[in-house]
Amino acid sequence: LAQDKKWTIGFSQATTIEPWRAQFNKDIIAEAAKHPEVTLIITDGEDKTEKQVADVENLIRQEVDALLVSPKESAGLTGVVQQAIDAKIPVFVLDRNVDTDQYTQFVGGDNKLIGRAAGEYAVELLGGAGNAKGNVVEIWGGMGTQPAHDRHDGFHEFTDKESGIKNLLNEQSGDWKQDQAYNIMANALRNNEEIDLVYGHNDPMAYGAYLAAKDAGREKDIKFIGIDALPAEGVTWVKNGELTATFLYATPGAEGLRQAIDFLNGKKVEKAITLPTERVTAENAEKILKEKGM
Ligand code: FRU
Repeated sequence: LAQDKKWTIGFSQATTIEPWRAQFNKDIIAEAAKHPEVTLIITDGEDKTEKQVADVENLIRQEVDALLVSPKESAGLTGVVQQAIDAKIPVFVLDRNVDTDQYTQFVGGDNKLIGRAAGEYAVELLGGAGNAKGNVVEIWGGMGTQPAHDRHDGFHEFTDKESGIKNLLNEQSGDWKQDQAYNIMANALRNNEEIDLVYGHNDPMAYGAYLAAKDAGREKDIKFIGIDALPAEGVTWVKNGELTATFLYATPGAEGLRQAIDFLNGKKVEKAITLPTERVTAENAEKILKEKGM
């Protein structure tokens, strides 16, 4: 361990198999490189709650100066986050929450707002408020996470007002994974002659559904909406006409680390930092990719 550095900050990541989390790690590592006084320890929960709990226990044992955690799910991580808080370690919860608000700060996107933006756009795509008509497939993220519930609730604030919109599925979760979403969609296609719009709680699932529709020769009849807008994924899929829209869900890597460093340096930090979103459609996808040099 680099004992000569001023701060040791631990970051417990839920998994790295999902592209958004790989980007998240890149963002936090890039930010750490700007702070020579910081040693950053990153652990990988490997998409298993037990592994992530053990990771956090380990970071507590190492007496990190601050703990950043992006939980796989809320309930299973709450106990160990509370242990860190009890051990007087400042805790920064990133992206997905836990069932306590005793932490120092939460940094993440506003999933309810993003869900609303997606719902409002879905209504527009299906004929506009008061006239919208169509059969909708919604593919949930992980049921034990707040982002999935908020993305659902926000969306339905708009779509439930439309008597012409019919929801074909009831709480089917693809656990944020493309292959699981593919299977859910393949089933939905078999069971329903008409599907007009798919709402995936993230881009990998919206894209998995698109691939299933493509394999069934029905992708042209369906609009696909996702969330995340990674340049090499969602934004590119929109540019290619595979997804109709995606909504930016910025990773909290850089901002989370900056906030933790500010706090350790004695600055007062807000209880919650909300990262901004943006709608990406065929209109702006190319421009966004150009700005990224892609
Ligand atoms: C990655 C991910 C993202 C999603 C976020 C929600 O693990 O599934 O695709 O936006 O988590 O917490």
